[in-house]
Amino acid sequence: MERNLILLCILCCCCIIFIGPSDSQTDTLAQGQQLKDGMQLFSASGIFRLGFFKPGNSNTSYLGIWYNRNNEKAAWIANRNNPILENSRVLTIDQYGNLKILYNMGDSIELYSVHQEAVNTSATLLDNGNFVLSELNPDGSIKQELWQSFDYPTGTLLPKMKLGFDRKTGLNWTLTSWRTDNLPAIGSFTLGLDPTGLKQMVIWWRGSIYWTSGPWNNGCFSFMYEFCNYYKYNFSYISNENETYFSYSVDKGTTIFPRLMLSAGGELRGFGMDSMFTGVSCTSSTNSSLKDGCVQQKLPDCRSPGEKFVLKMGLMSRDGIKFHENENLTLIDCWDECFKLCSCIAYASANDDGTGCEIWTKGTTFTQNNLGILREIHILESKVRLWWIWLTILVGGTALFPLLCSCCYVLWKKSKARGSRSQRMTYNILLHDLGEGRRRQKDGKTSNNELQMFSFETIALATNCFSAANKLGEGGFGPVYKGKLLDGQEVAIKRLSRSSGQGLVEFKNEAILVAKLQHTNLVRLLGFCIQGEEKILIYEYMPNKSLDFILFDDQRKNVLNWKKRFSVIEGIAQGLIYLHKYSRLKVIHRDLKASNILLDKDLNPKVSDFGMARIFGLNEMEENTNRVVGTYGYMSPEYAMKGIVSIKTDVFSFGVLLLEIVSGRKNNSNYHFKDQLNLIGYAWQLWNEDRGFELVDPGLGESCPITEVLRCIHVGLLCVQDHAADRPTMPDVVSMLSNESIPLPPPKQPAYFLNTVRAEREMAENKSEICSTNDVTISVIEAR
Ligand SMILES: *[C@@H]1O[C@H](CO)[C@@H](O)[C@H](O)[C@H]1NC(C)=O
Ligand SMILES: *[C@@H]1O[C@H](CO)[C@@H](O)[C@H](O)[C@H]1NC(C)=O
Ligand SMILES: *[C@@H]1O[C@H](CO)[C@@H](O)[C@H](O)[C@H]1NC(C)=O
Ligand SMILES: *[C@@H]1O[C@H](CO)[C@@H](O)[C@H](O)[C@H]1NC(C)=O
Ligand SMILES: *[C@@H]1O[C@H](CO)[C@@H](O)[C@H](O)[C@H]1NC(C)=O
Ligand SMILES: *[C@@H]1O[C@H](CO)[C@@H](O)[C@H](O)[C@H]1NC(C)=O
Ligand SMILES: *[C@@H]1O[C@H](CO)[C@@H](O)[C@H](O)[C@H]1NC(C)=O
Repeated sequence: MERNLILLCILCCCCIIFIGPSDSQTDTLAQGQQLKDGMQLFSASGIFRLGFFKPGNSNTSYLGIWYNRNNEKAAWIANRNNPILENSRVLTIDQYGNLKILYNMGDSIELYSVHQEAVNTSATLLDNGNFVLSELNPDGSIKQELWQSFDYPTGTLLPKMKLGFDRKTGLNWTLTSWRTDNLPAIGSFTLGLDPTGLKQMVIWWRGSIYWTSGPWNNGCFSFMYEFCNYYKYNFSYISNENETYFSYSVDKGTTIFPRLMLSAGGELRGFGMDSMFTGVSCTSSTNSSLKDGCVQQKLPDCRSPGEKFVLKMGLMSRDGIKFHENENLTLIDCWDECFKLCSCIAYASANDDGTGCEIWTKGTTFTQNNLGILREIHILESKVRLWWIWLTILVGGTALFPLLCSCCYVLWKKSKARGSRSQRMTYNILLHDLGEGRRRQKDGKTSNNELQMFSFETIALATNCFSAANKLGEGGFGPVYKGKLLDGQEVAIKRLSRSSGQGLVEFKNEAILVAKLQHTNLVRLLGFCIQGEEKILIYEYMPNKSLDFILFDDQRKNVLNWKKRFSVIEGIAQGLIYLHKYSRLKVIHRDLKASNILLDKDLNPKVSDFGMARIFGLNEMEENTNRVVGTYGYMSPEYAMKGIVSIKTDVFSFGVLLLEIVSGRKNNSNYHFKDQLNLIGYAWQLWNEDRGFELVDPGLGESCPITEVLRCIHVGLLCVQDHAADRPTMPDVVSMLSNESIPLPPPKQPAYFLNTVRAEREMAENKSEICSTNDVTISVIEAR
């Protein structure tokens, strides 16, 4: 009896499992069916989704296809120039077989209409992201393909999509940028193949050539060398009497596809997994030095190439000239307009969504102002004006100081008095925990590992509202700012990007745990801040910045003689041993690299960004993780490709770092070496030819002890061996380095297939840094 019941239960469960998903997820739209707002088609393995979406916080919606992971931009959009305002919108196949969007009780956008007699069609979202409309035979099998979304690329090139032209149908496969990061309408940049027959890619800016890739050579374009070298991707350039195109494909079984995207600002970005593989940018508004392939834009006589605009938050004294408010101008067009007009000194977008332009000519003045209404204004920076701006800041700052003090006071009072209920709850829980920490400390029972909680206002004030001037850099998990707390203490402030899917309580718990990791070679976490979506970590400030800042600079690296370098290597190793072994948490860093090694005033190394995997809620165990964090070039092969994490992941990165410190060269820049090897490959080659000492930084001079240096290189090569099991552990590394009598095994073939990578984090997040100071303004009024 009982057994029957259990069997029944199991049967029921199975039914639910089998019926459940296939019922709610389908990849095909059949004739007569409607895909309503809120419904979605999923490709067979769920890799892609198709449905209506609203970008940013706009009212209008679009039909798009996007990755069914993270919050990535739509890879394809059906109606980029016909956004739909109404709520009643459906995608449907009508009785004649036409594929169309219906809205507003009768209006329609036709994606494909059958020209001759009515046919039976259905549309399927494939696992490669292609949405295909096919004519069906009476038995339901596919007779022929009529239409596919891959023939109408928008801003993203996925594997199997083509870039080029079809001579028979007259189709041009090009990418066209979004107008702004949140507005899918057609922007001002287009990427395509050169129509003149040169085998190259071209970016046009409003019809004129802006960038060229250089010729297709050895199965690759040089700007995406690192892409081509990845063995899972296959690139091709096909030209015959019917069509000419560039395309690429991925290994079977890949579920995270690489993407080539053309951004609203005209940057071409190549992504693989979660990191950027390659980036091409000619934006002269931020950097006037020309880069490979960028076409020199004509300068008017009154402008010099050194003149550039910097982004500031503040106000102009008068209204400027506004134009094309409702049109297709974006920030780069505003830059162009302003640059061409000799009297222009500043520009900004006219509309909140980043479209339209407002420009100001001489005679108006800029006030840097972080209270009240904030606006992103691009100001022409030239030496003459500089003193003036400083004066404004100084005067403005002095005038505002009492104001700031009073608002801090009011804010403090306010935060004691009110606050939304749920936030208040979290605050109470946190304050309770922290209060306990404090009490215990008074008893003298705990050490000085108390973690402070900061309010968002304090942090905003300390960093001057996250101003660009205070920005120290962009880490893997978000930007880092320098800040000065009210008591004068200097701190480094890391504003975590919003992609962490963690709740506040988990975030807090992890931050508290990580704060307990204390070692002379680890950067200390001082506190954190949680407010709404904002999650911020506050660290001790390191005056000598990071190792990459010093090591890879021809001048600055002179302070690092061999003795110092060796002690840096040892310090990093000690920090890692602590993380791996002696801390209770057994933390695997995952993103060890030169820019994550900070240097204190005596150039002692301190590992930073450890525990970020915990803080972001990623699993620390050795297992497949679907979110790979890390930096190509420092990532071990098993991690980069299969997502397998272990302490050997860090050992690999340490090995790369060691070779970088000895050679003073970056692993991921290959231009020094013939054969285009990266540093690991180069070191391996020299080692096998018994020329290891040639790797040593020439700046170190004759003075360095060659046996010790060679031993370092040897250990470095042992750390970067292809198989994780062959690599030593960190304690092994330390004893190998410090004890010259230990015999070292010969290194095996390292992993160096990922060459020359400028890996940068995907900046999919909204990059506008408008800091909410509404509270500040309101409280000032209350104070009066
Ligand atoms: C969004 O809709 C609201 C109310 O319907 C309207 O007031 C507002 O102007 C709309 N915004 C945009 C950007 O269209
Ligand atoms: C289209 O073909 C499918 C499969 O054969 C069939 O189930 C469906 O009824 C057909 N629809 C029309 C309108 O003929
Ligand atoms: C495609 O591009 C070619 C040459 O650039 C042009 O002549 C042709 O009209 C374009 N076709 C379409 C459909 O835009
Ligand atoms: C790469 O793609 C080309 C063209 O599609 C094909 O001929 C070739 O066999 C592919 N190579 C590999 C290794 O898959
Ligand atoms: C070009 O198209 C024609 C007609 O469809 C076809 O017969 C021929 O094989 C195609 N050529 C190539 C190289 O694919
Ligand atoms: C401009 O770019 C070059 C090369 O990328 C870089 O060396 C230089 O520092 C940049 N200049 C500024 C002002 O950002
Ligand atoms: C976009 O701008 C171009 C030229 O700047 C203009 O010719 C075109 O009409 C504009 N299109 C729209 C939809 O505003």
